[in-house]
Amino acid sequence: MAAITWNKSMSVKINSIDEQHIILIEMINDFYENIGNRSNNENISKLISGMKKYTIMHFSMEEKYMRQFKYPSYETHKKEHDNFIAKVNALEEKFNSGTLIISFEITSFIKDWLKEHIQFTDMQYSDFFIKNGLK
Ligand SMILES: [Fe+2]
Repeated sequence: MAAITWNKSMSVKINSIDEQHIILIEMINDFYENIGNRSNNENISKLISGMKKYTIMHFSMEEKYMRQFKYPSYETHKKEHDNFIAKVNALEEKFNSGTLIISFEITSFIKDWLKEHIQFTDMQYSDFFIKNGLK
């Protein structure tokens, strides 16, 4: 069972960004499934680090466009990104040092955060980015 499914309500109407959101969702689902199957720690650790790397790349692409187009809500949007990465970093550190067992609570936090972030925060740049020529 997929933890999160991308649908049109999550589209920011910019293909390159939608594509990255879909990949991120697939990575979260993979992570979720591996937690459910009680996959070994090494696998889970790899999934966390892959997810983190991809997320950082994706956030920096969004932020690059925001700076380039002088997006008015850049600071607040970036803060959301930074807070999320800080949480994932803390989680990764705790998991890798053996002081944290990944639970569905954690996978839920990640999927809910992403879903909300796309549907509310990212959605706000949609028209602005499109007006600036992204498609
Ligand atoms: Fe974002």
